[in-house]
Amino acid sequence: MKRIAIYPGSFDPLTNGHIDIIERALRIFDVVIVAVLHNVTKNALFTVEERMEMIRESLEEFGDRIEVDSFGGLLVDYAEEKGAQAIVRGMRAISDFESEFQLAMMNRRLNRDIQTVFLLTGLRWIFISSSAIKEAARFGADFAGLVSPVVHKRLKEKMAEAKSEGKR
Ligand code: PNS
Repeated sequence: MKRIAIYPGSFDPLTNGHIDIIERALRIFDVVIVAVLHNVTKNALFTVEERMEMIRESLEEFGDRIEVDSFGGLLVDYAEEKGAQAIVRGMRAISDFESEFQLAMMNRRLNRDIQTVFLLTGLRWIFISSSAIKEAARFGADFAGLVSPVVHKRLKEKMAEAKSEGKR
């Protein structure tokens, strides 16, 4: 039986911190499904399709051990539908713990058969988040090396588009 994990999130956009977690998850699981949440309330910079495309291109080297998908509704229902045994979440610091604990306990209450596995990011990614990277990009700071080359290019383009739209 294949060991399958879901790695869910907003990924707006994918960062090297996320990639680090995916690499670690691949040491434990046969297949990791990177699942982008369709979130109607969150004000995202990239569309779900754009995010999935960047994830696919950034993770090409892992071949068919990575699946990129999107989901709506309850995460545990999606995990069950995909035949996954676990949900993977990355932890950076203690500040992540409270909300992650709540999410994991709620998911356990909803489906006792799916385990949440927390993985610690490498120390060099401890300070990065999608929001911090977007902010740096918005103000023209150098964020190369914190995201994949594909994400770096698309984010720069997106910021240039937003700037020219603002000028119109
Ligand atoms: O990258 P994020 O925004 O921290 O990811 C949050 C995510 C997608 C893991 C979480 O919001 C989620 O699973 N949402 C789907 C709805 C759900 O199942 N919520 C938990 C039980 S109420």
